[in-house]
Amino acid sequence: MSNRVRKPMTPVIAAGGFSSGDYKLSWNETTYYTIYSGGEGGSSAKAKSLRLKRQATGADKYLAYGLSLDKSMGQDCIVVCKMINNIGTVEHYYATGKVTPSLLDPNEPTVGITDATVSYVNGNIQCKFTREKYIDSVPRYCDSSKNKYYLQIAEGSIYGGIIQKHGSDVVVSDSVIDFSVNTTFSGSVRDAAKSKAHACLMVFAWMFCVSTGIILARYYKYILPSIKIQKMMFWFQAHRAIMIFVPICSLAAFLVILADVGWKWVETTSKVSFAHSIFGMVLIGLSLIQVFFGFLRPDKDAPRRPLFNVLHKFTGMSCLTLAVVTCYLGVFIERMNLGRIGWGIMIGWTMWVLILPLLIELVQVLCAQTKSDSYQITQDKLPPIPDEGNKKLIERIKTALLFLHLLISFGHVIALIVVIGVAEPGKFVSD
Ligand code: HEM
Ligand code: HEM
Repeated sequence: MSNRVRKPMTPVIAAGGFSSGDYKLSWNETTYYTIYSGGEGGSSAKAKSLRLKRQATGADKYLAYGLSLDKSMGQDCIVVCKMINNIGTVEHYYATGKVTPSLLDPNEPTVGITDATVSYVNGNIQCKFTREKYIDSVPRYCDSSKNKYYLQIAEGSIYGGIIQKHGSDVVVSDSVIDFSVNTTFSGSVRDAAKSKAHACLMVFAWMFCVSTGIILARYYKYILPSIKIQKMMFWFQAHRAIMIFVPICSLAAFLVILADVGWKWVETTSKVSFAHSIFGMVLIGLSLIQVFFGFLRPDKDAPRRPLFNVLHKFTGMSCLTLAVVTCYLGVFIERMNLGRIGWGIMIGWTMWVLILPLLIELVQVLCAQTKSDSYQITQDKLPPIPDEGNKKLIERIKTALLFLHLLISFGHVIALIVVIGVAEPGKFVSD
C-alpha cells in the first residue's frame, strides 16, 4: 500500500446504474470515490450454458469493468474482478491497445481500489469495490471526476493467474456515463452475426459471381449457342444477370454492415477496417456505374461501341482488382477472428483466378499452333485462324476448364463462407 494521503469519504451525491442483457452494475457517487456493485446475471440461454460449462470445468474466471474514452479497446482503465480457486481479488489494469492489459501500477496492483469483494452467487460472478476517482501521482489513472467514459464490460478465463482474452461479446454502454446524474444507462454487445452476413454475401458476390461473370464474357462467348433469349447469346444473358445481381447483393450487404455500425462510418481506430471500408465504397460505386453504362451500351456496330468495350473492360477489371484487395482487408479485420485460415483460402482462390486465364490463353495459343499447315491464312496476313477441328478441341478444353473453375472457385467460396460462419475468438487465432 502506498503512503498517499487517503481522501475523505463524503456523503453520496448521486446514484446511477447500468443494465444490459447479461450484466448489471450500480454505483453511488461521492466527491472522491465511486462505489460500484454489480455482476453477471444473464438469463439468456447462451449465458446460462456458458455458466454451466464454467461450473463443470471449474475454470477460474474474471469479470472486468473498463472506463474508456471510446467504444473500442485501448487507453482504458480496467477494474478486473478475479475468481481464482473460489478466492476473489480485484486489481486495477490499463490497456494500451488490443493486447492483454497490464497493471496500472505494477507496485500496487489494487491502486485506487478499496473495499473490494468478489464472489459467486448462483454461479454468477459478483463484484463490489470502491474506486478513487483520480490519483494525480499515477500517470495513466483515468480521472472520472473530469472526464466522461464509456463503460465496457468483459469476461473471460484465467490461466496460470493471467487473464485471457475475453470473448467477442463485450458489452459497451450506448453513451458516455455521467456518474453525477441519477440515471440508468444501457448498452449492448456488438454481435458478430451482421458482420458475418455481410462478409458471406460479399464473398459469394465478388469471389464467385464476378470471377465467373468476367470469364464468361472474355472466353466463353461460344457456349450454349442454342440457348438464346430475345436473340441474345447465352454468355451475354448470364454476364448481365450475374453482374446486376452483384451490386444488388453488395448493397444489401452494405446496409447490413451499416446497421451493425449504427449507420455511421466505421471508426478510424482500426486502420484495416477503415481501409476496407474505403475500398469497399469505391467498389460498390464502380459496380453501380458499370451496370448503368452496361445498359447504355451503344449498338454492336455503332462507332462508339469499341470505346464502350474498352472502358467497360477497364472498369470491370478494376472492380475485380479492388474486390480482391477489399476481401483480403476484410479477412484481416480482427473481429472476424479468421487468422491464417482466412487469408489461406483467399490465397488459394487468388492463385486460381490468375492461373485460369493463363491456362486458357495457353490452350488457345498451343492448340492453334498444332497442325499449322492446315491454317487458313487470311488475305491481309492476319494471324492464322485454327481450322474447325482445332477450334472444337480448344472449345472442349475450355469448357472443361470452365467446369473446373466453377468447382474450384465455388469450393473456395463455400470454404470461406463456412469458416466465416463458425469463426469465434480463439478458434482460428491463438491469443
Ligand atoms: C458489376 C458489373 C459488371 C462488371 C464488373 C463487368 C465486367 C466486364 C468485363 C471485365 C468485361 C470484359 C471481359 C474481357 O473481354 O476481358 C465485360 C464485358 C462485357 N460486358 Fe460487362 N460487366 C458488368 C456489367 C455488365 C452489364 C450490366 C452489361 C450489360 C447490360 C454488360 C455487358 C458487357 C458486354 C456487352 C461485354 C462484352 C464487351 C466485349 O465484347 O469486349 N456488363 N464485362
Ligand atoms: C468486395 C467485397 C466487400 C465489400 C465491397 C465490402 C464493403 C464494406 C464497406 C463499404 C464497409 C464499411 C461500412 C461503414 O463504413 O459503415 C465494410 C465494413 C466491414 N466489412 Fe466489408 N466488404 C467486403 C467484403 C468483406 C469481407 C470478405 C469481410 C470479412 C471476411 C468483410 C468484413 C467487414 C467488417 C467486419 C466490416 C465492419 C468493420 C468495422 O466496423 O470495424 N467485408 N465492408
